Amino acid sequence: MSYADFHRRSITDRDAFWAEQATLIDWHRPFTQVCDYSNPPFAKWFVGGQTNLCHNAVDRHVATRGAQNALIWVSTEVDKEVVYSFAELHAEVQRTAAMLLELGVKAGDRVLIYMPMIPEAVFAMLACTRIGALHSVVFGGFASVSLASRIDDAEPTVIVSADAGSRGGKVVAYKPLLDEAIRLAKHKPAKVLLVDRGLSPMERVAGRDVDYAPLRDRHMAAQVPCTWVESTHPSYTLYTSGTTGKPKGVQRDTGGYAVALAASMKHIFLGAPGETYFSTSDIGWVVGHSYIVYGPLIAGMATILYEGLPIRPDAGIWWSLVEKYKVTSMFSAPTAVRVLKKQDPAYLQKYDLSSLKALFLAGEPLDEPTAKWIAEAIGRPIVDNYWQTETGWPILTICNGVEPAPSKFGSPGKPVYGYDVKLIDENTGQELTGANQKGVVAIEGPLPPGCMQTVWRDDARFVNTYWKSIPGRLVYSTFDWGIRDEDGYFFILGRTDDVINVAGHRLGTREIEESISSHPAVAEVAVVGVADPLKGQVAMAFAVLKDPSKAATPADALKLEGEIMKTVDEQLGAVARPARVRFVTVLPKTRSGKLLRRAIQAVCEGRDPGDLTTIEDPSALQQVKDLIAQR
Ligand code: PRX
Repeated sequence: MSYADFHRRSITDRDAFWAEQATLIDWHRPFTQVCDYSNPPFAKWFVGGQTNLCHNAVDRHVATRGAQNALIWVSTEVDKEVVYSFAELHAEVQRTAAMLLELGVKAGDRVLIYMPMIPEAVFAMLACTRIGALHSVVFGGFASVSLASRIDDAEPTVIVSADAGSRGGKVVAYKPLLDEAIRLAKHKPAKVLLVDRGLSPMERVAGRDVDYAPLRDRHMAAQVPCTWVESTHPSYTLYTSGTTGKPKGVQRDTGGYAVALAASMKHIFLGAPGETYFSTSDIGWVVGHSYIVYGPLIAGMATILYEGLPIRPDAGIWWSLVEKYKVTSMFSAPTAVRVLKKQDPAYLQKYDLSSLKALFLAGEPLDEPTAKWIAEAIGRPIVDNYWQTETGWPILTICNGVEPAPSKFGSPGKPVYGYDVKLIDENTGQELTGANQKGVVAIEGPLPPGCMQTVWRDDARFVNTYWKSIPGRLVYSTFDWGIRDEDGYFFILGRTDDVINVAGHRLGTREIEESISSHPAVAEVAVVGVADPLKGQVAMAFAVLKDPSKAATPADALKLEGEIMKTVDEQLGAVARPARVRFVTVLPKTRSGKLLRRAIQAVCEGRDPGDLTTIEDPSALQQVKDLIAQR
């Protein structure tokens, strides 16, 4: 079947299409209805069916491929490599499940996972879905204030964490950040389960903190059966940034997600049982959830969990793993490729990469020079794919597993099966049907299986944030600008909101502004994303001080800038640290008091700031211009 027909069928004969895909997973009880969209925009997939994510990822493979590799942990930080077969993974997950049960976790409870890239993090995720509890993984690079807001929203019964992570050979202690986060949070977890890696000393809180190793010892022979849950039972929440400072808990279902991932492994990621998948992401991000943990395992593939940098001990490390484990599909981000690009391509060419069917890249725009460089350096096909935390799996790409098709530089490709992608005119709210017209990328409801069900405990926020009516229909907004060319290929042109993308990490500028504003010297601040040749974008802050004399000399300004950056590091984590904090006496605003962030961003990028008729004080933008000119 041609891809065009495959896609058309997924929209026009939706239920039959997805019923077929649903045979890729195991069901404990068959579903009675494929899609219930009687209460738009809420979609229920595979209604009446019962299944379990952990069963599909682990248990069902034990009989047929129990001795085959399932989880391959490689840490260049602590110099360790441990391989778990499906049978071993099955045993470990049951142990962790027994531990969580002993600590009081019940189906429907939340377990917050704040962990470095170690196998116990994967065991904990799978143990949660095994017993019907929801995991909420928080990226280890986030610090206490980010973590506290997520604790308060998820209200976890148990938090699973570790003494420390390690980055570039430097130990990053997690426990003090976690303790501070719990102190700041209103909600207090009953128990904290701690993996002691022996990297950083930990103080235990009596009655609350429990050590992982001794508890595991008591559950070595644990047998914890999977809890069969309704297809619509939430499997996890994952926080992501939006326009407001408060992160949104993206809530995912069970059956729809399992089916969507299984289908994507086949049609997009060219995966087959017994092969090896390597995603270089972090389990704290959506790519880690879908394509380190669940997708590959559901497909019966081995998955590599890598702790370390792409260039340490040298730029050949990832590629040596491809050779060693005969990786067939690899997934990374353009930023990582740009980091490698600064190294000698000889490192990449030292290894036999012939097992690799393709390198998949996502998370941020893939520019043409980067795409060409990596294609040349590794001599394997490159496949861009565009999606979001909210969708859980690709919206736009080339589905080479259905019908191989050429890519176009700068374009992630065409709408993926299941997604009815539209471009909407920002001003009129009408659908744009012509070629090369710029609009907001939108998806007509229902969203396909695997996408977010709702915002955790906030249905109204889900409806109001994402959904717009266009005549007769409801569409989901991605908050990305895009165009579609005459051949149907889409091009993504950046976010329409205040979300920025720094080195593939999605951050909300409002969160960074809130953190900077908490510094006692700061009266007001604007944070914008500015194009950066390495990281895609960086955050730039422009702050007004309560007492401008505090930054009177360049030395004073530099000192204060350092202090403010430290505040952000401590509260949100170094990932959110702005590249620069500059001081101005007034911020550009409209006469009604709205910050002109897009004008600031344009000036920082050397572009025309556009229509400024509503600006209150034109000298404000001039100050930004002058500071940029000094650089
Ligand atoms: O702006 C788009 C950009 O990243 C956003 C989603 O980020 P996140 O929720 O972290 O999910 C990443 C999942 C891969 C999008 O709204 N983005 C993601 N992929 C691409 C992209 N921009 C351009 N090209 C891509 N391939």
